[in-house]
Amino acid sequence: MDELLDWYRIVRRDLPWRRTTDPYAILVSEVMLQQTQVARVVQRYEAWLVRWPTAPALAAAPLADVLTEWVGLGYNRRAKALWEAARVVAAEGWPEDLTRLPGVGPYTAAAVGSFAFDRHELAIDTNARRVYARWGFLPTPSAEVNQAVMELGATLCRAHEARCDACPITLCGARGQRVERPARQARTPFVQTERYARGRVLAALAGREEWPGQLAPERIERALAGLVRDGLAVRDGDRARLA
Ligand code: ADE
Repeated sequence: MDELLDWYRIVRRDLPWRRTTDPYAILVSEVMLQQTQVARVVQRYEAWLVRWPTAPALAAAPLADVLTEWVGLGYNRRAKALWEAARVVAAEGWPEDLTRLPGVGPYTAAAVGSFAFDRHELAIDTNARRVYARWGFLPTPSAEVNQAVMELGATLCRAHEARCDACPITLCGARGQRVERPARQARTPFVQTERYARGRVLAALAGREEWPGQLAPERIERALAGLVRDGLAVRDGDRARLA
């Protein structure tokens, strides 16, 4: 993997979570990065760590504050799971099996294990899975290989565009193969989705946005019911508030 690592050392983006081996900070970054783009995460990650620099600090915060700080990152259940994970860590320390933490699946466990605890495991998310499928082999795991493969998947070896001309992996099984761009699918505009409605209602309950009076009352009701079901909001008579 010398060619991969030589390439990575040149192109490596200096992302804040690449400057730490603190497992809590790495966990925060990985949970934020699960569905949200790097550029959006950077600022929010730094603000989060200023506010709650350690797992016990986060564990001691009210869930409503945690949900409010998360507004804009999307998929709010991740914030609740991260807070619950911090409570486990504050009470019991880091479990040997990191997938025992709420919200931590095999990918996130391997990423935290590798970046924070220097465990030699491959962290395989959607991007890494695609990269390894194209290579046709798996590398010897290390933290730097994991970071390098993330960088490769994000920049050269993308789902619908493979820049093989610029790629350092000479032994890749898919070198030069055409990557099909799939026919564009008709997609529901984001503002029509339930996820959008939930995001607006939650931001309003957090006092971060106006009440979304432009949404049909049935949509607001459905969004609110979803937030209550996920333990993010509670009903208080005919009002609602953050959990
Ligand atoms: N996406 C998920 N984890 C990442 C990381 N550590 N660096 C860059 N992008 C990522």
